[in-house]
Amino acid sequence: MSLIIALSKGRILKDTLPLLAEAGIELLEDPDKSRKLIFPTTQEGVQIVILRATDVPTFVQNGAADIGVAGKDVLVEHGADGMYELVDLQIARCRLMVAGKVGAAKPARRLRVATKFVNVAKRYYAEQGRQVEIIKLYGSMELAPIMDLADRIVDVVDTGKTLKENGLEALELIMPVSSRLIVNKTAMKLKQARIQPLVDQLQAAVTRREVAHAGDLRRPRRDDAGPWLRRLANEERHDGDATLQQPGCRLRSHAGSIAGLGRRVGCGRAGHGQRGHRPRSPRWRCRCRRLHQSL
Ligand code: ATP
Ligand code: PRP
Repeated sequence: MSLIIALSKGRILKDTLPLLAEAGIELLEDPDKSRKLIFPTTQEGVQIVILRATDVPTFVQNGAADIGVAGKDVLVEHGADGMYELVDLQIARCRLMVAGKVGAAKPARRLRVATKFVNVAKRYYAEQGRQVEIIKLYGSMELAPIMDLADRIVDVVDTGKTLKENGLEALELIMPVSSRLIVNKTAMKLKQARIQPLVDQLQAAVTRREVAHAGDLRRPRRDDAGPWLRRLANEERHDGDATLQQPGCRLRSHAGSIAGLGRRVGCGRAGHGQRGHRPRSPRWRCRCRRLHQSL
């Protein structure tokens, strides 16, 4: 039974290949040294196709590829009909944000918003009852406010360096973003015996990383608390305010697996790792929640 996996070139390809390798799938050729678009792999019948990020959902939705990896930003923009979103791979993490020129006041007229995420932006402003003019761009969104083409942009932000170097600032968080494993619904039915083990192996690889990462954040000795706390603060900022606003941590059925780990990296409140446990302050929620999700 053959299987086609659609990946986008660039950071998603780079970050997904090690995960696929853990599931026993490796490219037989280096895509950086080849002009090919379809690559055989170490697993009989499994091929990887390399596309533009925005085309991955289209290939999976229409069954041209069975499986794909796409950013949540691209999925929300495209729509998820005909596909299952099965694993949050926790790679290519960033935030979809509204940004504008530093210190710029709101214009008296209707706001002009430049973006390639037209559907996301329309929905975002409509939900707030704000009427805006959307301007479709395909890249270099940061130029739009500088060149007075728009007042705001909707784009992904990671370190914030691109905004800063172009005199812009992040203004509103729309959603945190990471890449997801998507599967064509028909393929899932017809090729379940081949797809399900791969899904399970990828989920296990993500979980192993999360647990290793959480173990890494174990409580430090008093003298190295500074860097540890800074790292924790970065993690929380990276997840975005929306995550922090989630209601506490709610464990499902992982109480056993988290016991012990909870004492080392948990929020410190008695009962960590138990169903219904609540972290001791909002500051700890994000970390607790991610830990729980990963187990
Ligand atoms: P296209 O070539 O079709 O315009 P793209 O330039 O958005 O796509 P990439 O930059 O490789 O392609 O981004 C792929 C995905 O990686 C995005 O959909 C998003 O989920 C995530 N991403 C984009 N920029 C960043 C970033 N700076 N840091 C982390 N993840 C990012
Ligand atoms: C993305 C995005 C921003 C930048 C944000 O561009 O469009 O420009 O990353 O990252 P930062 O907050 O870390 O600066 P990308 O690097 O994908 O280049 P692109 O313009 O080719 O999409």
